Amino acid sequence: MSFLVDGTVHGAEPRPGQCLRTFLRELGRLGVKKGCDAGDCGACTVHVDGEPVHSCLVPAFRAAGRTVTTIAGLAPAPGELHPVQRAFLEAGAFQCGFCTPGMIMTVAALDQAQRADLPRALKGSLCRCTGYASIADAVAGRSRIEREPGIGRSAPAPAGPDVVAGAARFTLDEVPPGLLHMKVLRSPHASAEIVAVDVAAAAALPGIVAVLTHADSPPHLFSTGRHEHPADDPPDTRVLDRVLRFAGQRVAAVVAESEAAAEAGCRAIAVTYRVLPAVLTPEEATRPGAPLVHPDRAGNVVAELHGHIGDVAAALAGADVVHEATYRSQRVQHAHLETHAATGWLDADGRLVVRTATQVPFLTRDALARLFDLSPDRVRVVAGRVGGGFGGKQEMLTEDLVALAVLRTGRPVRWELTRREQFTATTSRHAMAVTVALGAARDGTLAAIRMRVVSDTGAYGNHAPGVLHHGTNEVIGLYRCPNKQVDGYAVHTNTMPAGAFRGYGLSQTIFAMESAMDELARKLGLSPFELRRRNVVRPGDDMVSTSSSPHDVVFGSYGLDQCLALVEERLAGAAEAAPSPDWLVGDGMASAMIDTIPPRGHRAESRIRALPDGRYELRVGTAEFGNGATTTHAQIAAAVLGTSPDRVTVLQSDTDATAYDTGAYGSTGIVVAGTATLRAATELARMIAERAGPDRELPALEALGHADGSPRSVAFNVHGFRVAVHRRTGEIRILRSIHAADAGRVMNPAQCRGQVEGGVAQAIGAALYEDLRIGPDGRVETDAFR
Ligand code: FES
Repeated sequence: MSFLVDGTVHGAEPRPGQCLRTFLRELGRLGVKKGCDAGDCGACTVHVDGEPVHSCLVPAFRAAGRTVTTIAGLAPAPGELHPVQRAFLEAGAFQCGFCTPGMIMTVAALDQAQRADLPRALKGSLCRCTGYASIADAVAGRSRIEREPGIGRSAPAPAGPDVVAGAARFTLDEVPPGLLHMKVLRSPHASAEIVAVDVAAAAALPGIVAVLTHADSPPHLFSTGRHEHPADDPPDTRVLDRVLRFAGQRVAAVVAESEAAAEAGCRAIAVTYRVLPAVLTPEEATRPGAPLVHPDRAGNVVAELHGHIGDVAAALAGADVVHEATYRSQRVQHAHLETHAATGWLDADGRLVVRTATQVPFLTRDALARLFDLSPDRVRVVAGRVGGGFGGKQEMLTEDLVALAVLRTGRPVRWELTRREQFTATTSRHAMAVTVALGAARDGTLAAIRMRVVSDTGAYGNHAPGVLHHGTNEVIGLYRCPNKQVDGYAVHTNTMPAGAFRGYGLSQTIFAMESAMDELARKLGLSPFELRRRNVVRPGDDMVSTSSSPHDVVFGSYGLDQCLALVEERLAGAAEAAPSPDWLVGDGMASAMIDTIPPRGHRAESRIRALPDGRYELRVGTAEFGNGATTTHAQIAAAVLGTSPDRVTVLQSDTDATAYDTGAYGSTGIVVAGTATLRAATELARMIAERAGPDRELPALEALGHADGSPRSVAFNVHGFRVAVHRRTGEIRILRSIHAADAGRVMNPAQCRGQVEGGVAQAIGAALYEDLRIGPDGRVETDAFR
């Protein structure tokens, strides 16, 4: 067959059943991405005879004899950009950039009428990062980028030209020769023991290289959650375990010459299970005599915390007005468009190398070294460009099994999770039940706050203690009140584990606390804004009542009062009204405080070198997954060294090539690693100044900067919505959305704005649409974007 792809004729024979997406990637068109393989996300969009199609849905043979254009062939000539690519660059219309090639291909095919109705036109094109506002700006030809150098300027992302050209290399865009593929057989039961596994039939199939079971697993226990201190997460997980604690847990892995062979191998494994009683909710799990998810423990509560100041019971009894209610939040999946994936191999020296989608390359290296009894210098972990994380990639979910397969076979091995696996066998936001009791005087002054949090952490304890701690700390710290009590419990259930997710517990508890504050305001006859204004913390207050060391948290700046005023003013002045008498219109608001950086330490080092051509090379360990760290680090170094960001080359996220970094989460990519870069650049500037003169020699100059993220500081956010609700159908329309962020010193306004817009879009999803539902058998029922 003959295929015309990006102007070049290829004679090739697609495999039976092969889709156009995989066919094009095998032809080297790596800008064609996989986000779902179900036609939902649009990451694989290409043009066939000028029409945009989801290439995962098109059989490859159908493209024979037709004109196929991918992102690599969209530009009018080599080295140039298509106008839509230029517009995306100018608007900074991407964060991780994984959706960007498909999004650009979709937009490039829109006519004027379609461009005027973007929500409809982009229905089949998902972006999890941007919230679409910057994409709308790109389509409208609006720019967000500033060319002037300096901190506080919206400098463009260094990777921008590669991202819009589809040339940025994500995790799976590097393909070592001789690659094997891995697929995993997963538990159909929420709770079971493996009595026997018969792999003989699977091993005998053509193309099978290895079948791995619990008998092959290293004995060590670990946690998939990654922190600077490994003991922060309970070690309760094995690479492959005989005991299965949730439907979807790994049972066995098949390594084969092709994905299809590995899938066939999985189907041929015969497993005998002993099914055990399961507990699917915290209520069931905490009943006396409930089955234990981890029988080596005394109960199913994996972490708890208790703290109080004053006398809450007396204050509630004496309050003029009391409100108490329980608020429940559901599981939500991160849904980064790049699923978890890793490729591993042995280098020429026999060292283990893992290229993976991670926010924490150094912590992953150290975990792999411990797990396989290797010295850390025998392991290298590299993160290429990572296609979104939102906390989900602060876990080790693929690297351990890939490493086992590489060490067992001696060959390169790849494992890419399907979207279904991403929904059913990774992690989610913790579902929580939060009971809030508030007592206040008639004038609205808070007399008592009591909060009880029950967090469903699922089958394993990764991030359970940290999320519980963080989720209770700042939410109760936002309000000044002499009597506060918080009790929190993280409970195991036989369900998919929860884990780190943007906000790290606060999304759930803020929802509860702010809802309770609104109800209290209603009872008091006060506006929600006024009730907040009368009670929020102010500089000088002790902020964190449950923290063991409250004074490690400081006000970096204080703009909460301005945030409240701004949002109130813009909502009051909103002209949006009900579309018709069938609609009711209402305003809502919420406020939040978040302290940056994990409380138990975070380290970063930066190394910067002056190059002979007057440019600089900056090496940082922190990862780039759409958080904008690369751009900001270049800006920081450039500002200190008196140059422009484009003269600073940033190398990052490679444990061989960069200095240590705990990882990118909790704002640390800029707050901690950025400080290390600031210090390194400052030192280099001092060295350069010392050498100044006619005989100065720059090439040998190199400086190191270190930061440990202490003290931590807080940021504030206030958000207001005006919504219309249809009286009969319940349909909700958002008429106005206003966000005010007291973010401290904003390094790059366009990126800060993008983070806010993306966060708001995720919040709307969590509030109105997204629900990872567990069925009566413990399986995740909602296993696709649709
Ligand atoms: Fe769109 Fe990350 S930029 S998914």
